[in-house]
Amino acid sequence: MTPEIPTSGDSLRHWLAWLRTQLAAHSDAPEQEAHWLLEEVLDSSTALWSHPQAPLGEARRGHLLALLARRVGGEPLPYCLGHWSFMELDLRIDRRALIPRPDTETLVRWALEHLPNKGAVLDLGTGCGAIILALAQARPDLDHWAVDRSEDALALARQNGAALGLPVRWCIGDWCQALPAEQRFSLVLSNPPYLAVDDAHLSELSAEPISALVAGETGLEAYQAILAGVVHHLEPQARIAFEHGHEQGPWLRQLLREHGWEEVETHRDLAGRERVSSAVWGTPYA
Ligand SMILES: C[S@@+](CC[C@H](N)C(=O)[O-])C[C@H]1O[C@@H](n2cnc3c(N)ncnc32)[C@H](O)[C@@H]1O
Repeated sequence: MTPEIPTSGDSLRHWLAWLRTQLAAHSDAPEQEAHWLLEEVLDSSTALWSHPQAPLGEARRGHLLALLARRVGGEPLPYCLGHWSFMELDLRIDRRALIPRPDTETLVRWALEHLPNKGAVLDLGTGCGAIILALAQARPDLDHWAVDRSEDALALARQNGAALGLPVRWCIGDWCQALPAEQRFSLVLSNPPYLAVDDAHLSELSAEPISALVAGETGLEAYQAILAGVVHHLEPQARIAFEHGHEQGPWLRQLLREHGWEEVETHRDLAGRERVSSAVWGTPYA
């Protein structure tokens, strides 16, 4: 769908106001999204403030209208822009992988406080690489590994790693079966698919890969598969942390204990909801 274009002016300020109106029915944050779209075609985050009377111009107008048509057609903003910010990294993002969520920063912040002094760190279900690349950026001295079953997602993750100059060992396959048998990890992280196949939210998420969202009949299948396989890849006193749905905390805690994990804890996201559960393999050093 091509939106009706404005006829009364070409200044950036004029376009900003017009974009806000166009986005109002399609976004929870039309003001913010109008800025992001305009900044994208200007290739600058300051021009809007420093030169609000400057003309947009023909070439940029075409680009802007193409992006807006995709957005009002229902495509999530990060896919329209082709990149998205996560933990201060500018990541390339497209339909090959899930859009990294602010909720996942809770998992990364926990991990940053629990990184080992040395050894290997693993991200299971890496998608566009958001989690492992944030850790690799913070601690390039560690050995960073990431697994995904989707060739498309892993190709995108590799592109992000290369663009950021951050070395990660990317492995294709089914959870821990993708890893060399002898490889051990001091820290394991995962934000796996955790929706049930009949979850009511799925209709709002139709632009994203279903394999990144749905775990199975109950939504808990990925945690069970990971916990069954990861025991063969742990250093003594290794730590693990999972992102999960805000109602899945009690179940995750029980599952971790059943698999022999200790020091089981749940951490809340910025909205105060249970979001990440962590544990230690065996008794931690004093
Ligand atoms: C919820 S997304 C998380 C993406 C990214 N880590 C993030 O937090 O934005 C889950 C990822 O797990 C991957 N995945 C699903 N089943 C898998 C399996 N059996 N083995 C490996 N990866 C899998 C999906 O392809 C997807 O990229």
